[in-house]
Amino acid sequence: MVNFTGKTAFITGGASGIGLGIAKACAKRGMNVVIADINKSAVDETVTLFENNCWPVLGLQLDVTDRAAYKKAADEAEYKFGKIHLLVNNAGIGVPEGKLWEDKNEDIDLAIDINYRGVLNGIKEIVPRILRHGEEGHVVSTASKAAIVPVPGFTLYNSLKMAVVTVMETLAVDLRETNVGSSVFCPGPYQSNLGYSSGRIRSERLGVEMPSFGAPKDGEKAPPPPRMDVDFTKVIRYPEDAGERVLRGVERGDLYIFTHADFKRGWDARAAAISKAFPDEPDNPDFQKVFPMLVYNPIYEKQEKVPGLAPAVK
Ligand SMILES: NC(=O)c1ccc[n+]([C@@H]2O[C@H](COP(=O)([O-])OP(=O)(O)OC[C@H]3O[C@@H](n4cnc5c(N)ncnc54)[C@H](O)[C@@H]3O)[C@@H](O)[C@H]2O)c1
Repeated sequence: MVNFTGKTAFITGGASGIGLGIAKACAKRGMNVVIADINKSAVDETVTLFENNCWPVLGLQLDVTDRAAYKKAADEAEYKFGKIHLLVNNAGIGVPEGKLWEDKNEDIDLAIDINYRGVLNGIKEIVPRILRHGEEGHVVSTASKAAIVPVPGFTLYNSLKMAVVTVMETLAVDLRETNVGSSVFCPGPYQSNLGYSSGRIRSERLGVEMPSFGAPKDGEKAPPPPRMDVDFTKVIRYPEDAGERVLRGVERGDLYIFTHADFKRGWDARAAAISKAFPDEPDNPDFQKVFPMLVYNPIYEKQEKVPGLAPAVK
């Protein structure tokens, strides 16, 4: 999607953190922005911020797991702005750290509902609307760097974000004859309210307190903070940076939108391990003729080298 002015972006989880960064980047490019977020007070604050900047906005309280509510929200967005062009499936929660066999079933279901089913709901509801009007469009889903290099102890988070990557890769195949693009956004660490939002949603849904991330379990002593000669202000990034990177990726038609070159080493190791794991046997040319789409996928050829970008500041 190359022309943004006057087009409409529908952004889930758009009232905070990375989603808000993406929303601001859209507004700065002259787009109408629909902020669809479960947190009503954050939606109201965001609408005020946008109105103060004279940025066209519609704020909607939406739980992405609720299919009927999603349809209503999409109808309201079209009623206000006519058409939706850019869908950003960004709403997501953090998941308590723990070994999978120790996770509560309720946490597993909640994480699947929001981090995976919410993305499917967005695609099912909005993509047909974009295809129907025929103008150029794009879908971005926020996965995580955890989908590329899994974080120890976060099976649920890693695997659901990996599922989002696969959804967007397959969507790119399924949309390749259209003028609608597909990208997966895999950010590294960004300043956001993920811990707080996830804790709030979890306690509302499951009636439990969310332990703060990395907190010691009952009976354990907190480990001393690591002594590192590091300026953390140079490590953590702001959502404005995420927004600029996402919009640049949409404009370029990137299938993958990454934020930190630092994670390439982990990916290279993973890709090399997978390559080494194929048995050292000759290919069967007949197999390739019978199952061409099983052995090769042309969508990867489109991804071009991404130049560096100075991190955007607040
Ligand atoms: N912040 C990071 O370092 C980081 C890194 C990698 C990936 N991510 C991903 O980025 C996305 C945005 O997270 P963030 O870090 O900006 O956190 P955030 O909590 O600041 O923003 C997430 C927003 O999503 C909303 N939300 C949660 N569940 C929802 C639901 N069911 N329906 C609608 N809205 C819902 C929350 O209310 C919140 O406003 C998430 O998918 C997260 O997994 C974040």
